Amino acid sequence: MIEKKNELRETANRLAAKGKGLLAVDESTPTIGKRLAGINVENTEDNRKAYRGMLFTADGLGEYISGAILFEETLYQDHLDGESMVSKLNKLGVIPGIKVDKGLRTLLGAGDVETWCTGLDGLVERTAEYYERGARFAKWRAVLQITDDGCPTELAIRENAWGLARYARACQESGLVPIIEPEILMDGSHSIETTARVQEKILVEVYNACAANGVFLEGTLLKPSMTVSGADNADKAGSEEVARMTIQTMDRCVPAAVPGIMFLSGGLAEEDASVYLNTMNSMERKGAWSMTFSYGRALQQSCLQAWKGTDIEAGQKAVMARAQANSEASTGDYVAGSQPSSQDTLFEAGYKY
Ligand code: 13P
Repeated sequence: MIEKKNELRETANRLAAKGKGLLAVDESTPTIGKRLAGINVENTEDNRKAYRGMLFTADGLGEYISGAILFEETLYQDHLDGESMVSKLNKLGVIPGIKVDKGLRTLLGAGDVETWCTGLDGLVERTAEYYERGARFAKWRAVLQITDDGCPTELAIRENAWGLARYARACQESGLVPIIEPEILMDGSHSIETTARVQEKILVEVYNACAANGVFLEGTLLKPSMTVSGADNADKAGSEEVARMTIQTMDRCVPAAVPGIMFLSGGLAEEDASVYLNTMNSMERKGAWSMTFSYGRALQQSCLQAWKGTDIEAGQKAVMARAQANSEASTGDYVAGSQPSSQDTLFEAGYKY
């Protein structure tokens, strides 16, 4: 029996509230290390604290951001002034969340590139502790890849969907809203139609597994990749087609009980991630869920470059600019180019989080 159904529903609705989205800052220590290396900042605990603390003290952030996904270290961390990061976020009206998976491992018996997501052992106990510490939602990132030699395999789809559903059920037991993230990597030269076909199959399997496990859908959020063509496809689909195909996929597969679809940016450049989302929200759809953002790279790139390790004011200004752009995009009100963005390509083959 899930006891905290009312609370789960309420938290999920707050996270998916109109005009708001999520800031994903749950990079593992090696991954944030790469980001910091890009601006010549050493990957020490103090520097991670300074960077994330800068984000969590940006005045007004809660106007655009409903929740922040943290890495475990950050959930238990205090900022330089001694106040906990959790308290900083709560003061801004941003709900703290936590990445609870323990990373990907090779899925033996499946395709060479395929993985399964670890972290189920002891998850009910761990999520209860995270709740105690102030987290109210969670993330688990399962990854699937499209290849010319038959991936994703049935085995990978089944294993990853099942893992997501088991995780979701465990979180709900402790009162954490699970973000269900079946990411399809952009790697490959496949068409957008192939992505759509594969994504439909995956989402159907995910919700089938959720039903089998008694997941309370009103207290969940979905975090999918957008339905895009492969990164190496020479004839890449533009924003109109991406928006149309993504809506078609979501309309076909996501139950009406789910309050919000929070897209990941997956290697899209900052401005593209905003424009694609805006185009989607300017089109008609059948689903009543909100379609908004849960961006990592696409919310942080220009901020990192502005901050450079020391400039708090410039860093906060940059993150606020992208947060506002994406907030507007989530209601179809973003005017392309009206906020500054980094032109950097954020796609990385075989991305590790
Ligand atoms: P990106 O937006 O950088 O893809 O990251 C979001 C995320 O949380 C992936 O799990």
